[in-house]
Amino acid sequence: MSQPKPQTVMPEPAVGLDAVSKCYRRGDEVVHVLDHFSFTVAPGEFVALMAPSGSGKSTLLNLIGGLDQPDEGHIEVAGTDLGELGESARTRWRARNIGFIFQLYYLIPVLSAQRNVELPLLLQPMSRAERAKRVEAALTLTGLPHERHHFRPPELSGGQQQRVAIARAIVTDPPLLLCDEPTGDLDRQAGDEILGLLKTLNERLHKTIVMVTHDPHAATYAQKLVHLEKGLVGELRTG
Ligand SMILES: Nc1ncnc2c1ncn2[C@@H]1O[C@H](COP(=O)(O)OP(=O)(O)OP(=O)(O)O)[C@@H](O)[C@H]1O
Ligand SMILES: [Mg+2]
Repeated sequence: MSQPKPQTVMPEPAVGLDAVSKCYRRGDEVVHVLDHFSFTVAPGEFVALMAPSGSGKSTLLNLIGGLDQPDEGHIEVAGTDLGELGESARTRWRARNIGFIFQLYYLIPVLSAQRNVELPLLLQPMSRAERAKRVEAALTLTGLPHERHHFRPPELSGGQQQRVAIARAIVTDPPLLLCDEPTGDLDRQAGDEILGLLKTLNERLHKTIVMVTHDPHAATYAQKLVHLEKGLVGELRTG
């Protein structure tokens, strides 16, 4: 079974945030989530980020993935200045460069594992046969047993659902994976299998990975731990 080819080397840095600020408004209240936050990830790194609950970790991943925009500061990801992209260019950029993996998988329950993984490929011009080949390769790489490739998510265990979600994230061969508590809903054994899989994707396919976690054990799978006890507010410079 052919595997997705590793991408050519990503430009430095894979992720660069320079003095990024982001606040949310709730009525009259303004919540400063990121305040002049700077953060760098080198191509090929697997970084775990730990910070208190509600401190802005998911906000950070959304900014890096171009799902949200900062109020101030500069974000460069995979050689692209995100501030220079308009809405539709950002969507196209995201489809090529980012794979998101979430705690609760966000699979479509009425579609089979194969169909869930196929979805991101429908945005690209590609023959049905080529799509099927890539879907099988991605699912096989994640270790989902072959006979389960046509199961629907509710028929799969949590760990198996996360494998499907990871296959969906890598099927387009993006260089950067953004993982938000990827084992937060799994028991220790299933969680270890998923973390081992992420480590393999990092080592064998050279995926750069930023993983948010509250679990110190999960963080040991990464090469580098960024622990922000006071959250993402202030003149922090890491990397
Ligand atoms: N769309 C939004 N509108 C208003 N406030 C928001 C929005 N998204 C996040 N917030 C607030 O911003 C802060 C940071 O949220 P975020 O989800 O990024 O934190 P987190 O570190 O991921 O938290 P957790 O560990 O609980 O997942 C929180 O106070 C949250 O309530
Ligand atoms: Mg969060």
